Amino acid sequence: MNTQAIPPLSKDAPTVLEMTNISKSFGAVTALVDVSIKLRQGEVLALVGDNGAGKSTLIKILSGFHQPDTGTIVSQGKEVRFASPRDARAQGIETVYQDLALVGDLSVFHNMFLGREYHKRFLGLNLLDNRKMREQAQLYLDTLGITIPSVNSTVDLLSGGQRQCIAVARSIYSSPKILVLDEPLAALGVRESAHVLGLIQNLRQQRQVSVILIVHNYNQIFEVCDRINFLHAGEVALDASTADTSEEELIRIVKSGLGTRAIEAAAAEIRPGLV
Ligand SMILES: Nc1ncnc2c1ncn2[C@@H]1O[C@H](COP(=O)(O)OP(=O)(O)O)[C@@H](O)[C@H]1O
Ligand SMILES: [Mg+2]
Repeated sequence: MNTQAIPPLSKDAPTVLEMTNISKSFGAVTALVDVSIKLRQGEVLALVGDNGAGKSTLIKILSGFHQPDTGTIVSQGKEVRFASPRDARAQGIETVYQDLALVGDLSVFHNMFLGREYHKRFLGLNLLDNRKMREQAQLYLDTLGITIPSVNSTVDLLSGGQRQCIAVARSIYSSPKILVLDEPLAALGVRESAHVLGLIQNLRQQRQVSVILIVHNYNQIFEVCDRINFLHAGEVALDASTADTSEEELIRIVKSGLGTRAIEAAAAEIRPGLV
């Protein structure tokens, strides 16, 4: 991974996204209650919390997959409503879902250009320009430092970490303003996680793309994030800057109680002013 120290996010970095008082229920199940999150240009925000905390629901609202029951989304200073993932994508919000949405029996380069294939005319026919896609995919993966045996391999033949890298590379390729990664480290080994984290660290260094990184375990991500929001039972229980706190403190806070109140009380005790 890129271990170079990354300067803190500039105080002047503009806010690119504000989700305010978002609530969402599925029938009798309350997934989110008045959740508010803020994201600044170039910031890497980790969204952590137990299974069922509401992390995926929140980002599925951001990516236009679900509509919120209440609350507003302001993107680049304008209030937006996303009726579909296409609307969110048009605003520069790219999401890599937990199931990746790669096509297993297609090659790496076909997956990289899925839905935006290059074509060429040949004898009056409109054909896929495989050579161009192969070359471009190889070039792009090289620039990201992603090594795979061959861009001709079918995705099924790659390891979990390689697949995750391809999915992330594909979403970065579309030059998003906001990149959302839902549990990209789930099921990856140490080395594979380090590679995906390295890609995120590179983005963070450039401070062009803002990233929301959903993780189950935050000990892996402390060094690549600027801020951590801990979601518990559908509420943001803690919003902490990684520069102002430590991994040990967060572990203590999170383990200290099951309810939001208990977490707030524990945080206040450990470090006044943290929450
Ligand atoms: N489509 C759905 N239909 C019904 N319940 C759902 C749906 N999606 C999520 N939930 C429920 O909402 C809650 C939050 O889920 P989720 O956002 O997936 O949590 P996380 O990603 O933090 O594990 C859970 O209780 C889950 O069962
Ligand atoms: Mg989830």
